[in-house]
Formats: sequence, structure tokens, C-alpha cells
Amino acid sequence: MTKNKSSPIGLFDSGVGGLSVFQEVKKLLPDREYIFLADQAHVPYGKKTQKELQNLSARITKFLLEKEIGILVVACNTATCYALDYLRQMFKIPIIGVVPALKPAAKLTKNNKIAVMSTPATAKSTYLKNLAKKFAQNKDVMFLGCKGLEDAVETLDRKTIKTLLDKYTKEVCDFGADTVVLGCTHYPFLKTQIKMRIGSKIQILDSGRAIAKRTKQILKKTEDNAKSTIIETFYTTGNPDKFSQVASQLLKYRITSKKAYI
Ligand code: DGL
Repeated sequence: MTKNKSSPIGLFDSGVGGLSVFQEVKKLLPDREYIFLADQAHVPYGKKTQKELQNLSARITKFLLEKEIGILVVACNTATCYALDYLRQMFKIPIIGVVPALKPAAKLTKNNKIAVMSTPATAKSTYLKNLAKKFAQNKDVMFLGCKGLEDAVETLDRKTIKTLLDKYTKEVCDFGADTVVLGCTHYPFLKTQIKMRIGSKIQILDSGRAIAKRTKQILKKTEDNAKSTIIETFYTTGNPDKFSQVASQLLKYRITSKKAYI
């Protein structure tokens, strides 16, 4: 039976990166309520242990469940790689994770060379290695851990972004990839700058659109698809003024955020 008001969609990331996923989900599901949490008190997630990531992800999920979300999108590759299975065991709501788009990349590559740009933690995760084994077995995959890039996006530190992108895109080109997977949710905000450096012949994939489609599909199945007026609530465990400032620039409209204690 369809409810009068649907439950909010919850999303979280270590920081502003998850907003790239939020944007895609919102494009496909505009009549929904959203609650987004950026765990900026603990960014970058790449430096945490699996236990820490499981613990943080569980605390955030509890926080979002108190706000009565009906579905959770883990809008972070690192948290997905290290804590998704744990969350699914602990909580009963549908939980969608974000993993690098290796499967579509394996279908699209012509020269069988794929570069996955991600945080160093995602690059060395067993989860990603298994994904490659499953979907890109006969491909040459470079796992490129881009140290510091997500931090630079967090603060929109343009100088560091430029230096790091020069370095990492050169590695992609030297490797000879014809397909690049953006395996960190912070990176879609850098797509134009990456494209400028690697040229238009190399295709760039991210997971945002696929996650949006999956979210829509699950909501259809659970029949939790009554319309709401769009309400977006943003929380950060860090500094709300700083988050609001950077998020407004990335989303290209003015948002405000609240402090979350998880
Ligand atoms: N956006 C996160 C991801 O997709 C960044 C993780 C981090 O804070 O290291 O992996």
C-alpha cells in the first residue's frame, strides 16, 4: 500500500563527495525528501581501519534512522568497500553502496586498459580486487590511489587540486587507458578538469547515475514512492559554515547545514 508521505532518502559520505551522488539521485527522484550527512570530523576515511569505518558507518546509520529514513545510500566508495556488508547485517532497511564502475568500464573499453582513480584505501581494498576479478578478469586494470585528492576537494583547494590532477592524469595517460573510472565520490566534481587533461578520446565513468537508478528501482519495489515536497537537510559532523560554503559551490545553489553529533 502506498503511504501519503514517503520516508526520506538518507545519504552519507566522509565529506562533500557524496553530494555528487545526491545530485544524481535527486535528478531521477526529484519529489523526495533527502537527509545528507557529511562525516567531516573523520575525513578522510581512507586513513581509518576497517573496524573504525564499520563503527562510524553504524553510528551515522543510527543517526539517520532516528530521522526516519527509509533507504540508505552509502555515498562513499571507501565506506562501501569496508563497511557495507557490516551495515547490511546490522540494519534492516535497504542499503545501497557505491562501488567503482568497473563492470560498465569492462564492457566499454576497446583496448582493454582501464584506470580506476580512487582513494588509496579503496585502491588496495579486497572488495575492489574482487570486483575486478568478477567483472574485468581479462582486462588490464590500474588501481590508482590518488593520495590527498579528496582532501583538496573538501576545502576546494584549487592549487593542490591542479598539482594532484597533473600528476595522476599523467599516470593514466602513461598507462594508456582508454577508460577511466572515478572511484571516489569526490572526483565527479573534477570531471571537467580531468577531461581537459586526458582529452576527449578517453572515456570517464562514475557510479552516480547507476546508484540513482538502483535507488529508484528499490523504492518502486518497496512501494515507498509517495511524493513529498522536496526537503533537503544537510548535516555535518564538522563545521556547518564551512560545509555550507563548499557544498553551495559544488551544488551551485545556496544550502545551509546543521551540526550532527553521531
Ligand atoms: N568520497 C569518499 C569515497 O568515495 C572519500 C573517502 C575518504 O574520505 O577517504 O571514497
